[in-house]
Amino acid sequence: MKRLLVLMGASALAYGQPLALMPVPAQVSRGSGVLPIDASFQASVSGYDEPRLDRATHRLVERLSKQTGITMHEVKTTKPTLTISCEHKGEAVQALGEDESYRLVVDAAGAHLSAVQPLGVLRGIETFLQLVQPEANGFGVPAVSIEDHPRFPWRGLSYDVARHFMPVGEVERTLDGMAAVKLNVFHWHLSDNQGFRIESKLFPRLQEFGSGGQFYTQEQIRDVIAYAHDRGIRVIPEFDIPGHATAILVAYPALATPPAPKDVDHTFGVLDAVMDPTNPAVYTFLDRFIGEMAALFPDAYFHIGGDEVNGKLWRESPKVKAFKAAEHYQPSAKDPDSNIALHAYFNRKLEPIVAKHGKHMEGWDEILTPDLPKSILIQSWRGQKSLAEGARQGYRGILSAGYYLDLVEHASEHYAVDPLGGDAANLTPEQQARILGGEAAMWSEMVTPETIDSRIWPRLAVIAERLWSTQGVRDVPDMYRRMDVISGWLQWLGLTHRSWQDPMLVRLAGEHDPEPLRVLAAFVEPVKGYERESFGPYTTETPLIGLVDSVPPESEAARRFAVMVHTALTQHTGFDLVREQLIALRANHAQMQPILKDNELLNGIEPLSQAVSDLAAAGLSAIQAIESGEKSDAQWRKQQSDRITELSAAHAAVFPAFGGAVQELVNAASQ
Ligand code: ACM
Repeated sequence: MKRLLVLMGASALAYGQPLALMPVPAQVSRGSGVLPIDASFQASVSGYDEPRLDRATHRLVERLSKQTGITMHEVKTTKPTLTISCEHKGEAVQALGEDESYRLVVDAAGAHLSAVQPLGVLRGIETFLQLVQPEANGFGVPAVSIEDHPRFPWRGLSYDVARHFMPVGEVERTLDGMAAVKLNVFHWHLSDNQGFRIESKLFPRLQEFGSGGQFYTQEQIRDVIAYAHDRGIRVIPEFDIPGHATAILVAYPALATPPAPKDVDHTFGVLDAVMDPTNPAVYTFLDRFIGEMAALFPDAYFHIGGDEVNGKLWRESPKVKAFKAAEHYQPSAKDPDSNIALHAYFNRKLEPIVAKHGKHMEGWDEILTPDLPKSILIQSWRGQKSLAEGARQGYRGILSAGYYLDLVEHASEHYAVDPLGGDAANLTPEQQARILGGEAAMWSEMVTPETIDSRIWPRLAVIAERLWSTQGVRDVPDMYRRMDVISGWLQWLGLTHRSWQDPMLVRLAGEHDPEPLRVLAAFVEPVKGYERESFGPYTTETPLIGLVDSVPPESEAARRFAVMVHTALTQHTGFDLVREQLIALRANHAQMQPILKDNELLNGIEPLSQAVSDLAAAGLSAIQAIESGEKSDAQWRKQQSDRITELSAAHAAVFPAFGGAVQELVNAASQ
């Protein structure tokens, strides 16, 4: 069992090794020497100062103290360790495209951080904290000179609190993590079919009927906005209309295309409830509601959703049909029942309302229909094509397709997606300039406060790098090397993406020793994309406490094992470790028996556990074949490959994640 720990321990990088910064700064040059970090650490601000910067330096010392375990007293000294200088103030309400650049110079005598305005200071502080490493005489920061600025001005996370509500504490620690990797937009998905999550004073029925008691008060919202502003993060609310709006329509059924829903939805997917765009009362309501919310959220952008209107009730409603006829909508092959035209009509009525309350309208890419002003912003979730199409037509946009964290893909897959890749690569420079960046998305159908961090981190750091660092930063092994270190570092903020797991496994193991379950959990992954739904049914009430909820999207152990196998085969070293790992995995199923017996929580896991052992056995056979020195024939290879595919199948939405490494052993035995 010890071997697993050897595999999984991410070691801190000693001085002299490559830095582990994420996102990678625009320019880094290494010097010689180390600035010691000890109990006398002191930071000072000169030039322009404001309370936000004082709070930021205070947090810096607090975090440094946690990170190093050294009590730091913030005693004022004449020679601060880190001097911070800021030229001038930023916008009162953080604006798109504000200067975030900074310069950080460290030598053995001290560190100096300079920035044009406070946002740059906030970004530079995070880089400084990432540089702190244990070294021979305690902690230190290696001598370095960094010039840094972001590639894209819009770098965000879309965060759904409608399907599963996330209390303020979860939101704030997410903001801490976002700031740590230099993200600057928190897009708060506050209403959907399953819940309306914010207090309205004008329309209190919204939270009374739409939230099940789980909503934020306006005071909490103001606190979160201030918390985010302190960390250089804009907060943009989303109220998804005219579809995804069951929770609003339960409270105000007169606004619905009949039949109005009677309760919020507990199931997921694209559902029928929809506003009635032909009803003038809808726009009166939206004017007042958006007015109230626009006053609460200071950001210049306001997200109105606009995605996934299935159009069923619009097709069936006699009133809507009569409206379409009166407006002379012409059916076309692309829009046979004129629902796209009707949605566009709704958006054309909505945009001036949003604008009247001082905001740019933002929406998912379905709102990209003719005649909307170029001031709107398109968030592309259906693919890069629509982003490029919008930019060609003169619309600004951000990319979310490829950055859906809830689909539990590998970090490398998100890393490969570039806002200026795909169709956008062929745009003119002027059109490309309309692509402002991107947002990761964390939809909350399959997460609770207990599990959500494990779905966001550390992969969000990798997306943050894609949006901050230059396009040429794309070395995947180096990304993983740094991601592992940053993942550990993020824990000092209280994020639970690592610590969540063990209590979950202990719960699953009941009275038994959880160790065999830890071994199993280390080498499996949740099914990808939307495949999990086929293991349902899932509702908002389904407990999310199974093995699938207890394993990260990407198995670190399987990834390291694949590297070990590859190294063993190409450099002929480390074969003993590969073998020992496989022997331990082969033996694990027998050890799982007591845990599996009479345990409803682990229903369906028995065949998974068996498959993991069998897959390990297949790997051991391949090693034996390699060592025999005789190349096996094509038929053996085919047999083994089929067996690997079969053993890699999912059970209870979880599958063995080291099939690729075993396949590589089989290939080596038969080439
Ligand atoms: C979306 O994922 N429906 C925006």
